[in-house]
Amino acid sequence: MIVSVLFVCLGNICRSPMAEAVLRHKIAEKGLEQQITVDSAGTGDWHIGKAPHEGTRRILDASGISYENMAARMVRSSDFMQFDYIICMDQSNGANVRKVQGGEEAELLFFMDLLPDEELREVPDPYFTGNFEQVYELVNAGCDVLLERIIREHLE
Ligand code: 4NP
Repeated sequence: MIVSVLFVCLGNICRSPMAEAVLRHKIAEKGLEQQITVDSAGTGDWHIGKAPHEGTRRILDASGISYENMAARMVRSSDFMQFDYIICMDQSNGANVRKVQGGEEAELLFFMDLLPDEELREVPDPYFTGNFEQVYELVNAGCDVLLERIIREHLE
């Protein structure tokens, strides 16, 4: 079976593309490219078609993680039929995603649900905070948890 994950943030240029690239990198390290697919989307339309934000690109470059061919798009109702997991970066993204919800297939999660011991309950938006390093640390830790969960729940 193929398990599919969609990360969602507001602009789809900072947080969710970082998570997409990081998770895809971890999937490749485990040789699971044929079993797990990853995408990302935003709830806003300002940056459609654009590559990830410079801050996200810089962090990914420093870790040797590819973001090739990634371009921002908006979340759409068919995503609920297409993806197994839709993972929102903050509560506002979750509320906006529910507005376009079509179908009940996907499991809707919040990224910080993957890291229950963290005090932060939303992934802070680096477009406003400028702190891409903080987001990378959360994304890296959360993607480890998510990948283990997907393997345990679907691939073992
Ligand atoms: P993201 O960050 O949701 O993590 O991609 C943002 C990017 C752009 C904007 C807001 C947040 N914006 O208002 O253009």
